[in-house]
Amino acid sequence: MTYREIVPGLCWVGANDWDRRLFDELIPLPQGTSYNAYLIRGKEKTALIDTVDPRKEGVLLENLRSLGLSSIDYLVVNHAEQDHSGAIPCILEAFPGIKIVTNAKCQEFLQSHLLLADDVFYPVQDRDTLSLGDRTLEFLITPWVHWPETMLTYLQEDKILFTCDFFGSHLASSDLYARDLPRIYEASKRYYAEIMMPFRVNINTHLERLKDYEIRMIATSHGPIWDDPEFILDAYADWVSDRVKNEVMIAYVSMHGSTRAMVDYLVDALVKRGVTVKLYNLAVTDLGEMAISLVDAGTIVIGTPTVLFNPHPTALYAAHLVRILRPKARYAAVIGSYGWGGKTLRVLSDMFSGSTMKFLDPVLVKGYPTEEGFRALDRLADSIAERHRDDPLVIKDQ
Ligand code: FEO
Repeated sequence: MTYREIVPGLCWVGANDWDRRLFDELIPLPQGTSYNAYLIRGKEKTALIDTVDPRKEGVLLENLRSLGLSSIDYLVVNHAEQDHSGAIPCILEAFPGIKIVTNAKCQEFLQSHLLLADDVFYPVQDRDTLSLGDRTLEFLITPWVHWPETMLTYLQEDKILFTCDFFGSHLASSDLYARDLPRIYEASKRYYAEIMMPFRVNINTHLERLKDYEIRMIATSHGPIWDDPEFILDAYADWVSDRVKNEVMIAYVSMHGSTRAMVDYLVDALVKRGVTVKLYNLAVTDLGEMAISLVDAGTIVIGTPTVLFNPHPTALYAAHLVRILRPKARYAAVIGSYGWGGKTLRVLSDMFSGSTMKFLDPVLVKGYPTEEGFRALDRLADSIAERHRDDPLVIKDQ
């Protein structure tokens, strides 16, 4: 895809990656992704905002050549991760004399990843500005959206905020702007869950700060541009709030059907008590779908059999993801079946020892669940429903 004009003198010059299906060798990309870069022409100077993943550097170069550029003065780097910075060496070679405009932490990361010399950098600090003649760039240091060095760039005269990962979505699309809102909302929520959720406290602070800025557009470096920014700002305000929904996310694995029988029973018991359930069989689920549910869930339940004295490795992997994604869920529980003992509960409890989630009484049964096991699941369902009803942070009406 060729460059696209946003306003006179400002073009999208990035690349869609329609076929990519995995990011960081971890995160599923069911709809591909894009690496958005932007070229701003001022009366005196020209600036490129971010680059692209190295696999698409040829597309970026072709877009810049199509604009007839013989030189670029500044390359603003909002984030050092390779999907935005990996094409820097190629840009330095194609446009000699270009200066990399970024903060000290980002410079440190870029130099360690790309082995760049000191003299190519133009360091900036929070709220510094850089004139392009008739246009002015302002830099906002905003750590942890996604790494500790991340910053935003605000184009003052046009009121456009370039946010790199922040407010982004892994979505390859021919739409320059966010138009298919249900689809983009889901992709953005998945992106938030997988990338941003561990930093929601920091993000809350940044959202407060952004209220001081008039923002006409949010130009991210993944997914379509938000030309009606209120939509995504409101969505983020909801996601980062302390409020949860009257929902239980159950992630489970079952080898011979016993844990599955317990899960099925618990699902029905919760639904009968007015609690919404999001259920994920870890043997087949897309973990991104599970992550989306973690944004809202009031309670998380891990269902696992015991294998070689431990939780099933698949359940352990999912529990580890839950731990590092740091969802705002209020309660958690473990259910499952065992054959002759083990330390499943201890392993999972230790894993979440620093969590703010309150652990409810577990339900572990020997072999296939009997009446006694099903009654214990009823008590767990009662406990969850009552806590959701009485907890002021659980939204009751949806
Ligand atoms: Fe899109 Fe954190 O990189």
